[in-house]
Amino acid sequence: MAIAIAVTGASGAVYATRTLAALLERGVDVELIVSDYGRRLLRDELGEQASVDRLVSFLIDKYGAGVGAGTMTVHSNRDLGATLASGSHGCSGMAIVPCSMKTLAAVAHGLSRNLIERAADVMLKERRRLVIVPRETPMSLPELRNMVLCAEAGAMILPAMPAFYQQPKTLDDLADFIAGKILSALGFEHSLYPAWTGQVGP
Ligand SMILES: Cc1cc2nc3c(=O)[nH]c(=O)nc-3n(C[C@H](O)[C@H](O)[C@H](O)COP(=O)(O)O)c2cc1C
Repeated sequence: MAIAIAVTGASGAVYATRTLAALLERGVDVELIVSDYGRRLLRDELGEQASVDRLVSFLIDKYGAGVGAGTMTVHSNRDLGATLASGSHGCSGMAIVPCSMKTLAAVAHGLSRNLIERAADVMLKERRRLVIVPRETPMSLPELRNMVLCAEAGAMILPAMPAFYQQPKTLDDLADFIAGKILSALGFEHSLYPAWTGQVGP
């Protein structure tokens, strides 16, 4: 199974790396696109060792050798002739994680100026799963409206809003929660966070 993952220049690089590792551990063929500011984000938040050309080694070091079960193909965001730009490509879903307000706006309005925007548009027109993980606070009215437009077009808006009921101890626990939500939205089973048991009453 192939899944497209796009990383843009919104804070939260660890959400992207945890999602990538979890998909790769499940033997998924990941088609990765990273915007220019996404590349900067990976380096700024996680260090040079997480730069795109060293990303697989970073994922193995951080998350373990199980990451090797899948494959990762990196596409240039400038390559609008890449397979992901066509609806005939067999990618069954896509997540934009994290998603900047700029890319959110472009998807909301179908601009398709780069491969991330075009691949997202392909997901919408082909009625495939598109998961958008926006990160900004507070949000302007145009940003809120752009989320509504994307949701109306069929995307799932999955804000980078970790919960605390699972009593996270580390930053990685918070990343696990968001990555788990993304995997669920893409149709994968996982145990990245404990299922809510519903035992605590008012
Ligand atoms: C350090 C840094 C952090 C940023 N964090 C955010 C953010 O959390 N959310 C957001 O929408 N934009 C954020 N931006 C701005 C985007 O990176 C900028 O709008 C960029 O043009 C997005 O382009 P892209 O969507 O092609 O990656 C940040 C920029 C920098 C340099």
